Amino acid sequence: MTKHLPVLAKEVVDWLKADRSGVFLDGTLGGGGHTRAILEANSDNIVVACDRDPKALGFKLEVEKRLTVITSNYSEVFSFIPHTKFNGVLLDLGLSTDQLYSGRGFSFMDQSSLDMRMDGDGNRKTAQEIVNTASPSELRQILKRGGVGKELNPVMTAILKDRPFDSAEALAASIKKRFPKPTKSHPATVVFQALRIAVNDEFTHLNSFLDNVVDFVAPSARLAIISFHSLEDEVVTKRFRKWEGEKPPANYPGAKGKEGIGKLLTKKAVTPKEDETKRNPASRSARMRVFEFYES
Ligand SMILES: C[S@@+](CC[C@H](N)C(=O)[O-])C[C@H]1O[C@@H](n2cnc3c(N)ncnc32)[C@H](O)[C@@H]1O
Repeated sequence: MTKHLPVLAKEVVDWLKADRSGVFLDGTLGGGGHTRAILEANSDNIVVACDRDPKALGFKLEVEKRLTVITSNYSEVFSFIPHTKFNGVLLDLGLSTDQLYSGRGFSFMDQSSLDMRMDGDGNRKTAQEIVNTASPSELRQILKRGGVGKELNPVMTAILKDRPFDSAEALAASIKKRFPKPTKSHPATVVFQALRIAVNDEFTHLNSFLDNVVDFVAPSARLAIISFHSLEDEVVTKRFRKWEGEKPPANYPGAKGKEGIGKLLTKKAVTPKEDETKRNPASRSARMRVFEFYES
């Protein structure tokens, strides 16, 4: 049984126009909340859903005839379904509640792990290997790339002085020690985010998905991406803007612009309403962007 509550579920159904029958891709199946909502929005809807975490797929849906589940990274899923054109595509980035409490080192409370691999891929370095063995300059780069800002120096001092770590709890406690004054969120929050991004190579896969998805959309298809921090949102909006094309520069007569392939529908991100953030505080930082591809 999943404990994950899907964020912006109604908005996803509305923006993907899932009430009209179509073929949908859910690239981040997780606990299946969005897939379920899409399948329920129209009894003819068909969903292909994937997740890189094989443990995410252990739930059952009554409507299995209309659902195909694939254990795959979303950046590679199209190789399994090379002839399918989707009317709607969804990515709900990040971590599910089930993963957070799975004892794999994603939570500050994990006393026995500092792994953070979503797919358990044995070729991938764990967070423990990274914090314990990376050179100071490598570590600095990983933390900066993952969003650690003004806290970088005290965090670096904590890690370099206190390593090796054998659990997420030990790492979180070492960082907390360096921030004695009360802070709005746990001072290790962004550090954990940065490590998770590095361990799972999250930006590489997101960019590769965005490179590929354009070949697998039907005319007028919509792509919705929910992100949970500004770094992800930046990657998504930058790509959606690029896809909108460029107008020819006004001061160069005869110069050509670049033709776009569709339109960014949400210049202002779609965010959860107050009743949702009350019901599900984890939804607070969610922002959804939606792109509509042209008819041809
Ligand atoms: C926020 S949860 C999705 C929750 C889901 N929408 C629901 O309603 O239950 C994110 C999921 O995306 C998966 N994920 C993250 N990066 C992925 C990737 N590159 N490829 C496939 N799945 C990925 C995670 O394993 C996790 O299960």
